[in-house]
Amino acid sequence: MLIQKPAAIDPSEITPPELYARRREFLKTAALLSAAALLPPVARDAAAAADDDLKPTPYKDITAYNNFYEFGSGKEDPARYASSLKTRPWTVTVEGHCAKPGAYALEDILALQAPEERIYRLRCVEAWSMVVPWLGIPLHKVLAHFQPTASAQYVEFTTLLDPAQMPGQRTRLLDWPYVEGLRIDEAMHPLTLLATGLYGKELPNQNGAPLRLVTPWKYGFKSIKSIVKIRFTEQQPRTTWASGNPDEYGFYANVNPVVDHPRWSQKKERRIGDLFRRDTLPFNGYADQVAGLYAGMDLRRNF
Ligand code: MTE
Repeated sequence: MLIQKPAAIDPSEITPPELYARRREFLKTAALLSAAALLPPVARDAAAAADDDLKPTPYKDITAYNNFYEFGSGKEDPARYASSLKTRPWTVTVEGHCAKPGAYALEDILALQAPEERIYRLRCVEAWSMVVPWLGIPLHKVLAHFQPTASAQYVEFTTLLDPAQMPGQRTRLLDWPYVEGLRIDEAMHPLTLLATGLYGKELPNQNGAPLRLVTPWKYGFKSIKSIVKIRFTEQQPRTTWASGNPDEYGFYANVNPVVDHPRWSQKKERRIGDLFRRDTLPFNGYADQVAGLYAGMDLRRNF
């Protein structure tokens, strides 16, 4: 994600640095591929099906290759610098159209429901992807507790603003604080998660501790990190990327391979750790569950 416009280069053509470190895996994959080429077609299809699409990306990649501009725009910056973020005590302020606004201690939110594991694909607009075993509380369970009213059409989320803890906020990389939003039906959808951890452990700071959003059918930039405010609104929230660069990032941000980013195609993606690019699926593979939310909408215009 870049606000500045670098030379037009397809980001999926840039070999991620971790691939260089994967020579052994490359050799293993190459051996498997050549073995597969010797199989008859039916056996080859079965072999392909067995290649689990939801095999989790290694923990070290999920926690070392991040976007969290509050700690810099480099992929390694969050892992390097996010230890300065203090995640206890932590308060989430709830505002707007609901019966129970207020300041909630993190512990009050965590007490609402034990987090459950959900393995979701994460697809970034930069054309890389991962599979993440999240721990989280379904967002609708949390929002229901605040009793949104009929005027609550949208939910706005805000990240902590504290340049002392977040060195990126001392720069003008983005318009701080980071803000994201969902339509209320998207927020209440059972797939939407308020993540509290991954790989069975607490969320590392670089992944958005102590609470971050996960909306698996949308591009990763909707997954706002280190949330301190939840506001129920009547109007569509002004989200950070969409207001900073409306030609490139829309409010809906549904993974849609037929809508190109202005500077690159969104048709393919490279799963971190894979050698080859794969086709990007509409709604990131969750179309069966979520396409109905957008019935009648033109998703080329509402990107
Ligand atoms: N949240 C905040 N507060 N700041 C950010 O810069 N980056 C977004 C999203 N949430 C971002 C953020 C982007 S662009 C992506 S792709 C995902 O976080 C990356 O999540 P991950 O680092 O856990 O993979």
